[in-house]
Amino acid sequence: MSKGTAVITGAANGIGQAYAQRLAADGFDIAVADVVDATATRQLVEAEGRQFFSAIVDVTSPESTKKFASEVAAHMSPVAALVNNAGIYPWKSFEDTDYETWKKVISVNLDGAFLMSKAFVPVMKNNHFGRIVNVASTTFWLNAPEMTAYIASKGGVIGFTRALASEVGAFGINVNAIAPGLTNTKTMHGINEDIFEYLPKQQAIPRMIESQDIVGVVSFLCSTDSGFVTGQTIAADGGQIRI
Ligand code: NAI
Repeated sequence: MSKGTAVITGAANGIGQAYAQRLAADGFDIAVADVVDATATRQLVEAEGRQFFSAIVDVTSPESTKKFASEVAAHMSPVAALVNNAGIYPWKSFEDTDYETWKKVISVNLDGAFLMSKAFVPVMKNNHFGRIVNVASTTFWLNAPEMTAYIASKGGVIGFTRALASEVGAFGINVNAIAPGLTNTKTMHGINEDIFEYLPKQQAIPRMIESQDIVGVVSFLCSTDSGFVTGQTIAADGGQIRI
């Protein structure tokens, strides 16, 4: 039996795709909002015997996110979870970060979580149930240069998580964040190969983090077992930082 639909942004690739596969294995139907085609994710979800829907959605667009919410309502089982995973992380010094870059990063990473929540909270309120998981990053607690826009956006995500939790808890909606450490994805390798050499050594569990290592946290936060956990940020980073 379906546990309802889990909506995941940016799940055509990387860690988001792994969240999709795990939540499908948990019994959720999956709806993916991404700016690129999500056929590979569809195959993983359907292999778990679950329904799949995806559309090309830019999470920075109020129209695009609203339209996606009505399409999901028309095609899928009731929405039970929303994972705001879509994110970008350009590697730039403060000096090289122009205002356009700043706005783009804040827009995808923070406005995206806001707009998707605007689109899906009303449905969750109607159902008196919902799980929202926002994706932060442990860079927020680290000495990590060349990431001003990114770290600011992820700090915003943590603040948004805390604040939204206070407003929707009475409607059966829990809002939490996962903060992954450096995780092995194609995009991250393309942006900075060097950190994979030294950063894992600083973790209590001193090896590279794979997406599969962290999906269990999102699984828990989307489950009924997390019923009394809200407004929290959980670091999934092999023990590099302590919150
Ligand atoms: P990725 O690049 O593999 O996947 C990101 C996905 O988001 C892509 O499929 C991309 O098409 C999509 N996307 C980008 N802009 C979008 C937009 N405007 N609307 C809809 N979709 C959009 O990235 P990765 O590495 O899997 O990261 C996923 C999330 O995890 C991001 O929020 C990132 O900040 C966060 N994170 C990643 C870490 C890592 O080491 N890989 C560490 C900590 C956090």
